[in-house]
Amino acid sequence: MRVLVAYASKHGGTLGLAEWLTDALRESGFEVTLSPARDVHEIADYEAVVVGGSLYVFRWHADARRFVKRHREALSAKRVWLFSSGPLDESARETEIAPVRFVRKAMTEIGARGHRTFGGRLLPGTSSALPVGDWRDRAEVEAWASEIANELAEVVHQG
Ligand SMILES: Cc1cc2nc3c(=O)[nH]c(=O)nc-3n(C[C@H](O)[C@H](O)[C@H](O)COP(=O)(O)O)c2cc1C
Repeated sequence: MRVLVAYASKHGGTLGLAEWLTDALRESGFEVTLSPARDVHEIADYEAVVVGGSLYVFRWHADARRFVKRHREALSAKRVWLFSSGPLDESARETEIAPVRFVRKAMTEIGARGHRTFGGRLLPGTSSALPVGDWRDRAEVEAWASEIANELAEVVHQG
C-alpha cells in the first residue's frame, strides 16, 4: 500500500517528525513517499495520506493548509491522518492537545481518521520570546505510526 507523508515545516522540526513517521511506516511494510506539502501536485497514486504542519501563532503552516484545500476532494476518498507540532513544553506528551480551528474543520470535511499534536522544537536564535529546546519524542511518533499501520493493515486484509 502506498502512503504519502506530506509536511510543512519552517525550521526543520516538523520535517524531523515526518521522517520518523516515514521510517516507522516503512518498517511496517508500507511504501512511503515523504515530500514537502507544497511540492505535491497529485495524490492519485496513494491510498493513504498523512499531513503534518508546524504551528505558528495558533495557525497550521500555510503550506499544510493549502495542501488540504488543493486536494480536499481527493483526500475525502482516502484514509487521512493529520498532525501538528508543536508546543515548546511537556504539554503534548502529558495531554491530548486539540487541533487548531482549520485542522478541526478540515478533519470533518475530509473525514480524517485522526489527529495528533506532537511537541515542537525551537532552535537558538529563532525567537527571543519563546523557550529554546526540543520536545519532540520519537517514541510517541512511532507509537502513532503503529496505530496508523494497524488501521491500514485492516484495510489490506479486507481487500
Ligand atoms: C513565532 C512563533 C510562534 C509559535 N506559535 C506556536 C503556537 O501557536 N502553538 C504551538 O504549539 N507552537 C508554536 N510555536 C512553536 C513551533 O510550532 C515549534 O517551534 C515547531 O516545532 C516549529 O516547527 P518547524 O521547525 O517545523 O517550523 C511557535 C514558534 C514561533 C517561533
